[in-house]
Parts: sequence; C-alpha cells; structure tokens
Amino acid sequence: MKRLVFFTGAGVSAESGLKTFRDSDGLWEGYDIYEVATPQAWAKNRNLVQEFYNMRRKNVMDARPNLAHQLIASLEDRFDVTVITQNIDDLHERAGSTKVLHLHGEIMKMRSEKDDTILYDIRGDIVHGAKADDGGYLRPHVVWFGEAVPNIGVAAKIVSGAEIFVVVGSSLQVYPAASLAEFLPDAVSKFLVDKNPPSIASMWGYEVIARPATEGMADLVETLMNH
Ligand code: APR
Repeated sequence: MKRLVFFTGAGVSAESGLKTFRDSDGLWEGYDIYEVATPQAWAKNRNLVQEFYNMRRKNVMDARPNLAHQLIASLEDRFDVTVITQNIDDLHERAGSTKVLHLHGEIMKMRSEKDDTILYDIRGDIVHGAKADDGGYLRPHVVWFGEAVPNIGVAAKIVSGAEIFVVVGSSLQVYPAASLAEFLPDAVSKFLVDKNPPSIASMWGYEVIARPATEGMADLVETLMNH
C-alpha cells in the first residue's frame, strides 16, 4: 500500500464548528492568544488559561467529526495512511483514523506542568489548583506559543517516507510545522485542500483544491482512486 501522509490544520475541523485561529484577526474566540496560549500567560494567570482551555474542551466534546475526517479515515482501506495534525481536538480519532500524530498536543489530556510524561485523560474541566502526582499544577496537554514541539522529529521522519502528501486546512504559517515540507522526498505527489489556499501553494508544487475540506476531500478521494 502506498504511504499517504496527511497534514491537517484548523480548516479540517472548521465544518465541525471548531473555530480556526487566523480567520479572526489574531483573536481566538475573542481572546488574545498571548493572554491564554503562552507559558507567560500560565505564569501570570493560571485560572484564565484553564478557563480558556476548559471551554475549548467543551467545544471539542460537543463537536462531531465531519465528512473530511471520515474520508481521511476511510482511505485506510486503500493506503497506508498517517495523519499529522496541528489540531488539539480528537476528531480524526473519533472518525476512525488509527495513526494520528498530534504536533500541538491534545485537549483531551492534561499533564503536570513540571513533567510532560505525567499524563492523564480528562473529559470535563481541569479544576483550578489541581495538582499532578509529582506536585506540579495540572495544565492542558497542549503546546503553547514559544514552547518546543516534541513530536516534530517523528513527524519529519514520517514526512520523509511519504509517497503522497496532502495538506488539509492549514495556512502553513506556524513553525516548525510549516517547515516539515522540507523533508518530503522529491518524487512525492502533493495536494492541498483549503477553502482559501495560501497563494504560495502552487509555486511549491501543490495541486490545489480550493474548496471547503468536506467537498475538497470528496474530490481528492476520487483523484486518489485513480492514482
Ligand atoms: N475548509 C478548508 N479549509 C478551511 C476551512 C474549511 N471549511 N475554513 C478555514 N480553512 C483554512 C483557512 O483558509 C486557513 O488556510 O484553514 C486554514 C486555517 O489556518 P490557521 O487558522 O492558521 O490554522 P493552522 O494552520 O492549523 O495553524 C494554527 O496555530 O493557533 C495555533 O497551535 C495552533 O495549531 C494551531 C496553529
């Protein structure tokens, strides 16, 4: 089976009702991201950060995978599919994808602020002031701006083995994820599905499908069946 690697961003979950970040002038659901999604924010106002992510977790639990997530999962019948996602939601997993690598963490997990290997599943709110077994405060298991991306090495390795590479709903602006394409082999076929594609995409050699993720993925599946 051919190795098919997806790289997905906020746009794949937009039609599930989860907001993308850059579509709203640097505000995320009305919050300045530097007040809620940085280590400085955590140091300054832990409760605000918890409230923000508790809300994000509720949104994710209320959302359902859409056709784009489902089609990506269904391609496992025909391809060796790996999904690398910038999203912290679990919609790829709930749609049935079996190999999902989260670059920016997972909202349905929490961890000790002192040790990112002390991890717990969380379905409701993280209670203010709650601590992990090592005494560190519990924080959402997400990668904040300014923090390292622990999975980037694994992701680069997956990308370097891709035979087909598909970007869905990412502005390709956030580093280091955006630099992953440098690891693609020369012979790879590249596609990009985005309702408002970055203008540089065709110059980078992507076959661009300028449609919402659900419709664009339906087009792509047809193309891939003849691949
Ligand atoms: N279908 C397809 N694409 C869409 C849709 C849709 N329905 N709605 C929006 N898009 C596209 C936009 O055109 C844009 O190119 O999705 C992309 C979303 O880009 P970003 O908001 O920059 O999201 P992403 O690339 O995932 O990067 C955001 O930064 O907020 C942080 O860490 C967070 O992982 C996140 C990253």
